[in-house]
Amino acid sequence: MALLKIARMGHPVLRAKAAAVDDPGSASIRHLVADMLETMGDAGGTGIAAPQVHVSKRVVIFRVGPERLTDLEDDTEQDLTVLINPVIEPIGTERAFAWEGCLSVPGLRGVVPRHLKIHYRAQTLDGGIIDREAAGFHARVVQHECDHLDGILYPQRMTDHRLLMFAEEAQRYPIDMARFLATQGESE
Ligand code: NI
Repeated sequence: MALLKIARMGHPVLRAKAAAVDDPGSASIRHLVADMLETMGDAGGTGIAAPQVHVSKRVVIFRVGPERLTDLEDDTEQDLTVLINPVIEPIGTERAFAWEGCLSVPGLRGVVPRHLKIHYRAQTLDGGIIDREAAGFHARVVQHECDHLDGILYPQRMTDHRLLMFAEEAQRYPIDMARFLATQGESE
């Protein structure tokens, strides 16, 4: 295994559409996933997508710990999950706003709208299929990571760029989210 260099916002690999993986069980994809896992662990991320380590292929890994789960039924802890060639479909039209960060946008945080519930399907390293419904933070992580495969970073999903800020300042000057959400409601 090896620690890989993480691409930062501005690198063209983060704007490219990543290529489908033809052979999810190949040694090269297993090697890539092992290196992504080591890199994510070292950097302290919840998830990482292959383009973030300069590999333009449709592979993401993530895990969902207990700390940011919502009380929605399909928002549950997930052990390390590897998605190859993932496809997402929204369930319903509800959206939720919450803070996100990204290893490719170090030091910043932003409030991002995401589909509240999704259905996602992907291939696995052992030739199987993952087919899940997700809600809340679990759904958010999957949407964030899969966006990387289409060249999209979370700031491009934001609707109010005043809420893109340095993490330190966001902690120092907390945003009244209830007030912000009320404003969003008015503008729709
Ligand atoms: Ni990211």
